[in-house]
Amino acid sequence: SVGPRTLSIMSEAQQILDPLTRAARFLVVTIDDGGESSVRELLADLSGLRRSVGFRVPGADLSCVTGIGSAAWDRLFAGPRPAELHEFPGFAGPRHQAPTTPGDLLFHIKAEAQDACFELAMAIGERLRGAATIVDETVGFRYFEQRDLLGFVDGTENPEGAFAASTALIGAEDAAFAGGSYVVVQKYLHDLEAWNALPVSEQERVIGRSKLGDYEMSDAEKPLNSHVAVNTLIDPDGTQRQILRANMPFGSVRESEFGTYYIAYAATPSVTERMLERMFLGSDEAAYDRILDFSTPITGTLFFTPPAGFLDDLPDPPTAPAVPEPAPASSGDGSLGIGTLK
Ligand code: HEM
Repeated sequence: SVGPRTLSIMSEAQQILDPLTRAARFLVVTIDDGGESSVRELLADLSGLRRSVGFRVPGADLSCVTGIGSAAWDRLFAGPRPAELHEFPGFAGPRHQAPTTPGDLLFHIKAEAQDACFELAMAIGERLRGAATIVDETVGFRYFEQRDLLGFVDGTENPEGAFAASTALIGAEDAAFAGGSYVVVQKYLHDLEAWNALPVSEQERVIGRSKLGDYEMSDAEKPLNSHVAVNTLIDPDGTQRQILRANMPFGSVRESEFGTYYIAYAATPSVTERMLERMFLGSDEAAYDRILDFSTPITGTLFFTPPAGFLDDLPDPPTAPAVPEPAPASSGDGSLGIGTLK
């Protein structure tokens, strides 16, 4: 029989596996000193907040996936840690760099309607006031046919169905955290002037797919430094390794800021990191991913997304670091030094 816990695990996994929505809002947050207990209270209330906002916007399919950073984990929880949770390492290649930037919590809010995302973000922000600092807020939108601002359809080769679940969700290898996931975010800015100066046929060689129809180039046509070739990750035994991406375009005309919020879920962060290594540090086949000549990451953070049910029933907080007890004032007469009770 399917118990409430199984149902809740399924619903949380569903939030990661759900297809792309029209709207998203990404909040990256650092926890202030002493803010831990307020943050724990917010985390415990999150699914209720999501229901409150989501229920008022029928059809919006509001979801919120919460990520917790490596250092934050130990500030928030006692007990076991997810086996592969660590800081985003950053990648310094010969030509292009992927920086590591601070982040203790990620809220990946998505819905079919921006008002639902905004309202939930506002409720989260209110609860975090005085306890945490929002270091980045990015508003993502769907751009035509799931295109990024480079004009290419983004997300086509994402794994589907059962393969999506095994790609994105931890299984028996870390049983205590099964159903959880590792998520990497990077905020990329595009040099659209340089990009638009390229003829479409050359842009297609950068990506490795056709622009209008989104068809993959044949292996013979596809340059080895194209984005698709670099990110086709094949294990020595021939298995292709995948990640589940939920990239969204964002931008500001006033700031001339045109970007892609890259966000990818994986059962192990090592797959995402191997892709980044190939993109930035290069491989035997290519010096680096040519998409980087037109796209620069300005953030980079890794989080663990706990399985459902976890936030509703948080582990204990860490025991406070031992503060040395003040030495009892001794009166020298063997009494407790509290005077008389008269
Ligand atoms: C494929 C765009 C960053 C991993 C693609 C495609 C586009 C795209 C247009 C082809 C269609 C598709 O299958 O989705 C972008 C943009 C990025 C970005 C605009 C940021 C500027 C990244 C990063 C990674 C990555 C940082 C990995 C760490 C992949 C993978 C594929 C892919 C695995 C599928 C390859 C395949 O199996 O065909 N991306 N991407 N992307 N991208 Fe990205």
